[in-house]
Formats: sequence, C-alpha cells, structure tokens
Amino acid sequence: MDEPGVFSWQNPWFRWSVSALAVMTVASMLVGFVWLPSVHPDFTARGLWESLCRAAGVPSSWADQTPAGERGERSTAVVLDREMARAGARDAVGRGATLALNCTMCHGAQGQSASNAPNLAGQYPEVVIKQLLDYKAGVRANAVMEALARSMSERDIRDLAAYYASLPKARTAPTTYDETLPALVRVGDPLRNIAPCISCHGGVDQKLGAPWLEGMPRDYLVAQLKAFAAGERRNDPHGQMRAVVRLMTAEEIEEVSTFYARKGSALRH
Ligand code: HEC
Ligand code: HEC
Repeated sequence: MDEPGVFSWQNPWFRWSVSALAVMTVASMLVGFVWLPSVHPDFTARGLWESLCRAAGVPSSWADQTPAGERGERSTAVVLDREMARAGARDAVGRGATLALNCTMCHGAQGQSASNAPNLAGQYPEVVIKQLLDYKAGVRANAVMEALARSMSERDIRDLAAYYASLPKARTAPTTYDETLPALVRVGDPLRNIAPCISCHGGVDQKLGAPWLEGMPRDYLVAQLKAFAAGERRNDPHGQMRAVVRLMTAEEIEEVSTFYARKGSALRH
C-alpha cells in the first residue's frame, strides 16, 4: 500500500499543520483587526469589514458615508441660528432665575462659579442653549450635567439661557488687546494655521456658539482644551476647536488658560 504523500489530506501531519495555520491566522486577525483597534479611543463597533479597513488604514470616508452623528460618535446635532442669540423676554428671564436656583451650588449665586464649574453669568445665550442640548443628547459627556439637562424642557433651556445672559459679565475683557497677550490669543500662529482665540471668542469678534472665556476657572479651561485635544469632547461644530488645540503644546494650553483665567482669582473673593 502507498504511503500518503506529504501534501495529502491522508497525511495526519499535513492535516494538522494546515488546521493549525488556519487557527493561528484567524486568531491573529482577530487580535490585529478587532481587539487592538477596539481598545483605541476612537473605536466604533461597526463589524469586521470596517475593522479590517481601519486596521489597513483605509480612510473611513471611503468605507462609510453615514454622517458622524448617525455613527453614534460624540458630535453635535444642534444647528445654531441667530434666533438663539437673541436676549429673552422679561418673563423668560424671571422664569429662568427660578430654575437657576438649582444651579447655584456649582455655578455660583450670580452665575460666577467659585469652584471649577464654568461661569454662566453673561454667557452668550446660544452657548448655554447649545451646550445644554448637547448634554441632553449625550454628545457632551458629564454625568451631572447630562442628568440635569435630560430633565429640562426646551423652554427651560431657553429661559435659563435668557436669565444667564441678563447677568453682567463681572469680568470684562481688557479694552485693548495689546502685545502683553499670549501670541496665540492675539495673533494665532499662521504657520500652524491656528486662528487667534479673540477672533472667535470675543474681544475682536465672536463667532456664533463660541463661549465667553474671560474669567473662567483655569482648571476648567485646561480640562476642556485637553478633552478637545484627546477627542474626548467632540461637540464643537466642524471640529473647529479640535483643529486649533491639536496643534498646541501642553505649555501653550497652560499659558492660554492662565491668561483667560487671570482675573478669576482676584475677583472671586
Ligand atoms: C453639581 C454641580 C453642578 C450643578 C448643580 C449644575 N452644574 Fe452645570 N456644570 C457643572 C460642571 C462641572 C460643568 C462642566 C462639565 C464639563 O466638563 O463638561 C458644567 C457645565 C455647564 C454648562 C456648560 C457651560 C460652558 O461654558 O460650556 C452649562 C450651560 C451648565 N452647566 C448649566 C447648568 C444649569 C442651567 C444648571 C442648573 C439647572 C447646572 N448647570 C447645574 C456642574 C454643575
Ligand atoms: C474658529 C473659531 C475658534 C477659534 C480660533 C478658537 N475657538 Fe475655542 N471654541 C470655538 C467654538 C465654536 C467653541 C464651542 C464649541 C461647542 O459648541 O462646544 C469653542 C470652545 C472653546 C472652549 C470650551 C469652553 C466652554 O465653556 O465650553 C475653550 C476653553 C476654548 N474654545 C478655548 C480656545 C482658545 C484658548 C483658543 C485660542 C488658542 C480658541 N478657543 C480658539 C471656536 C474657536
């Protein structure tokens, strides 16, 4: 009787080594294409095919045409309009003041925070509306604020925004933005394509939806900038803050935060 050939299924060694190779291939594909990508912070579970494309470096726009929001990423669904930036009527302010009694513990009696929560006094109304809608939708992550916002109606949100907008900004911007400002705040950095902060955040110009930063707690500013840089906060429309901050060094994040917070400690007491 013939001995089975080396490359024959009759040969138990051949069968064994082909099976072992198959098992190892599948296992290493699972590790490389599924497990390793899944521990990456940007991972969205979308099936094996997308995992393969991702791992192979195929741009996600080739593989997937669904808008970011529908992919379940943390991005905003709020469409800003000029109407949101209008000051509310007097009865809205009054109703907002009553609702705001639930907020004083963290955001201060007059909307001037004494903790690391952001100030709300004088904040642009469209900012308060947009941020609360983002917490409500779970696209800006904060356990306390998400829970509070979920219990608010759209009217509550508008009235709260009207109330906070009616309070004076206790800490005003300097009247002249001169050369003592950090360069990024005043002129940005054209080489890195970073626009000056004051061209969006007030001072020289305010872009709809860009928050008033003057006098915000320093730790809050640092935390938000780092969250944008790490992609943990992604509710900025068109990724405009992420684009700015991704190119900044840790020292620059400290520097601009210290600058914007500069009056906070002096006025807080
Ligand atoms: C237990 C403390 C606490 C309470 C109570 C609280 N907040 Fe907040 N709020 C925070 C913190 C902390 C943040 C920043 C969270 C983050 O990192 O996203 C925040 C963020 C916000 C922001 C975003 C501001 C910005 O500049 O982006 C708004 C708007 C806001 N809160 C409104 C309210 C309103 C309105 C209430 C009352 C109904 C309220 N908060 C009650 C702690 C609180
Ligand atoms: C192109 C316009 C633009 C420029 C330039 C810009 N920002 Fe922003 N920034 C925004 C917008 C818009 C938001 C609000 C994003 C959102 O809707 O959550 C924001 C949000 C922020 C926040 C979060 C504040 C809060 O209370 O939620 C911080 C902090 C911040 N920017 C700091 C800076 C600093 C510092 C610079 C300069 C180095 C800068 N930004 C430059 C548009 C800009």
